[in-house]
Amino acid sequence: MVILAIYNLKGGVGKTAASINLAHLSAKEGFKTLVWDLDPQGSSSFYLGASASVKNESKKLLSNEMDITAAIQASPYEGLDIIPADISARQADILLNDMKQSKRKLASLLSPLKNEYDVVILDSPPGISVLHDAIFVAADWVLMPNIPTTLSIRSFETVVDYFKENDLDRSKLKCFFSMVDHRKNLHHEVMGEFYKDKVFLKSYIPYLSDVEKMGVHEAPLETFAPSSYAAQCYRDLWKEVRKNCIQ
Ligand SMILES: Nc1ncnc2c1ncn2[C@@H]1O[C@H](COP(=O)(O)OP(=O)(O)OP(=O)(O)O)[C@@H](O)[C@H]1O
Ligand SMILES: [Mg+2]
Repeated sequence: MVILAIYNLKGGVGKTAASINLAHLSAKEGFKTLVWDLDPQGSSSFYLGASASVKNESKKLLSNEMDITAAIQASPYEGLDIIPADISARQADILLNDMKQSKRKLASLLSPLKNEYDVVILDSPPGISVLHDAIFVAADWVLMPNIPTTLSIRSFETVVDYFKENDLDRSKLKCFFSMVDHRKNLHHEVMGEFYKDKVFLKSYIPYLSDVEKMGVHEAPLETFAPSSYAAQCYRDLWKEVRKNCIQ
């Protein structure tokens, strides 16, 4: 079982779009795949048409009041399951703060599933908190979508420093450019500079309205626009992620 966290300190950079499209491509390729929506916004859950089955499910899961297997739901796609999020996921930090071994919490909740799934994708909320510490420990790889702008790159550097200062394994960090706008010189300049950094994957996701349409279709791109350029970009990204992180 390989655990990929899709993460950025910054919000709105394409984490959820990447989580859903990569998870769908992973399942399509025959890897038994689980998405764990850790964000109280519940966007991944929305894209996969899932919602929590009991009240305060996210909170119950983290506080051992509910078994992880009871929280798993099948998605409409073969080989792809989801643990949906509800608004109670906003309490994750408070719950973890009061817990011993909180950094290992997500890893230990996931460990009974290690023979059930080939790939687990954690759709992380933005930020850097106790929950994120647990995400960084559980993940084999922390995959960061980055918009090639000054502030986005600054947040990437903050994360790298945070890993250094907290003795986290920096070799887990992999980045890819997201929402790239070819009309913007700044995007080209930033990408040129950071492609020298081995942490950045070659594949990137341009700014394309087909990605936004995932909200209208409530579905992964490959299901409603398989011949689009956007779907091709996610397929290329998936291939590179698979090669670097899975097999
Ligand atoms: N490559 C893209 N091109 C155009 N729009 C995009 C692209 N990627 C994501 N979007 C849109 O931008 C918005 C934010 O994307 P998304 O929800 O994937 O980001 P996020 O990092 O998960 O946000 P949050 O931090 O709120 O969880 C959504 O409306 C999404 O449809
Ligand atoms: Mg998101």
